[in-house]
Amino acid sequence: SAKSNDTAALAARLEKRWAFMMVSIMALLVGVMIFTGLHWAMMPPSRVETINPSTLHVSGEFVESNLGSAVEADGSITVRIIGQQYSFTPQCIVVPAKTPITFRVTSADVIHGMLITGTNINSMVEPGYISTFKTEFEQTGDHLMPCHEYCGVGHEAMWANVRVVD
Ligand code: CUA
Repeated sequence: SAKSNDTAALAARLEKRWAFMMVSIMALLVGVMIFTGLHWAMMPPSRVETINPSTLHVSGEFVESNLGSAVEADGSITVRIIGQQYSFTPQCIVVPAKTPITFRVTSADVIHGMLITGTNINSMVEPGYISTFKTEFEQTGDHLMPCHEYCGVGHEAMWANVRVVD
């Protein structure tokens, strides 16, 4: 009958509309996946600096004479530290209070971690990479800086001191 034909036509139209919506949603999802994939692939990885761990002591930024605190031209401080089984070099780090400080830390061997007690400073220290982070100490005082990543039998004894002075 004419009436059932109308119903069938309506059902077919609705079905087409739903199919179109599903295809649209899937196309949108795929588009988002492709866009984010390309977007992230084209972005340079942020703050990833690499370094050859086997030549740290021989040349470049992390030679022994360059470790510890250094005053930059703008008055800020850069602190360079090497972690190795089972110590940090230098063992004692002295920095001024109320001064912008940039830490640059790397490992000569395995993955270590560092945190400075009483602060929110907490970073992995990985061979091949330079961990960089900025901070400022508001108050003077002494802090312990233990390794917080298990790095071998001497892990428990791996720590340094941070002294914040006026
Ligand atoms: Cu270095 Cu644990």
